[in-house]
Amino acid sequence: MAYVVTEACIRCKYMDCVEVCPVDCFYEGETMLVINPNECIDCGVCEPECPAEAIMPDTEPGIEKWVELNAKYSAVWPNITTKGTTPPDADEWKGKPNKFEQFFSPNPGRGG
Ligand code: SF4
Ligand code: F3S
Repeated sequence: MAYVVTEACIRCKYMDCVEVCPVDCFYEGETMLVINPNECIDCGVCEPECPAEAIMPDTEPGIEKWVELNAKYSAVWPNITTKGTTPPDADEWKGKPNKFEQFFSPNPGRGG
């Protein structure tokens, strides 16, 4: 089992999650972060740290899409272990629906 990042992260990217992960398994895309499900040790400490409630266990119903997306992009995006600058409009996008279709980007972030 692992935890994965879901749609709620898109355009929010608070990055509180990366500071607490004991195995540094977060990876940064342009508009969201993902977790490498193979590296995640299922400790659960990141889940309550996310202000957008974007992190969920891979046992949630209907989460298969996000497990695949986390696995796919954690293989190509750079690792991130320190909190960067949260987007200035992050709070405006918190909880908004349909962010994936409009704003998901396959481009990598900067990492760090
Ligand atoms: Fe890291 Fe633990 Fe979150 Fe997995 S559950 S991503 S190991 S903090
Ligand atoms: Fe995203 Fe939440 Fe981390 S918004 S960057 S999963 S703290």
